[in-house]
Amino acid sequence: MAILDLEGIEKRFGGLKVIDGVTLEVDDGEILAVVGPNGAGKSTILKLIVGLEQPTRGSIRFQGRDITHLPTHRVRHLGIAMVEQTPRPFPTMTVLENVAVGALFGSPDTRTGEEAALAAGEEMLAFVGLADRRDDHIDNLNLHEQRFLELARALAGRPRLLLLDEVMAGLNESELRSSIDLVRTIRDELGITVIWIEHVMGAVVELAERVVVLDFGRIIADGTPHTVMRDPHVIEAYLGAAEGIVDA
Ligand SMILES: Nc1ncnc2c1ncn2[C@@H]1O[C@H](COP(=O)(O)OP(=O)(O)OP(=O)(O)O)[C@@H](O)[C@H]1O
Ligand SMILES: [Mg+2]
Repeated sequence: MAILDLEGIEKRFGGLKVIDGVTLEVDDGEILAVVGPNGAGKSTILKLIVGLEQPTRGSIRFQGRDITHLPTHRVRHLGIAMVEQTPRPFPTMTVLENVAVGALFGSPDTRTGEEAALAAGEEMLAFVGLADRRDDHIDNLNLHEQRFLELARALAGRPRLLLLDEVMAGLNESELRSSIDLVRTIRDELGITVIWIEHVMGAVVELAERVVVLDFGRIIADGTPHTVMRDPHVIEAYLGAAEGIVDA
């Protein structure tokens, strides 16, 4: 069953058409990777889904409900959370407080008080393996830990759909390993559907069940990682791109 339906989505920024007629169904419980060259429109698609940007055409349905023009706080309350490409932690708060904010503002239950939010924060910090850093200052976390903090914050709002924008960029081999394992656990144990933008092709091949390739705001391929990466259109779109999808 589809949890998310995009129908004929178009997004213009002034005269520039950045998303050019995207239609996509995402099944409940799948791990879908979105790949494509820089500037293809990947981040824009996720921002449209979560209501940070509004489409100029088309419609978005989540669990059968039209969410096309809802503001982002409403979309988050309905159960969609996003980890953005550039982490933006609250610098004056502790690790735990940062995650609790996700429960306070992301949760569908508007009665979530401070105490419940902190409890949800503790639970999610433990889930991502950062429980012992709860009272730490944000500056003491490395990049990998900051990404896990962002994941915990997104999860603290109890989403049904999680959107991840390049959360594995710049990680070393063992950090990449634990990130892949964590995303799989999020789906397997929490039952959360994941749409995940990624440039690290090894991770895509290992973790994604389905890959959608965007190029100039259009979907040029949609299938299993291995099929998609052998597709001549995909190889052509990536020729000259630093990521070298053809090596995957
Ligand atoms: N707010 C905006 N105003 C104007 N143009 C924008 C805006 N946001 C994105 N764009 C443009 O839209 C295009 C797609 O951007 P987007 O960030 O979605 O690409 P991307 O596929 O995520 O790229 P990357 O891999 O570099 O993150 C780019 O040409 C970008 O410059
Ligand atoms: Mg991007």
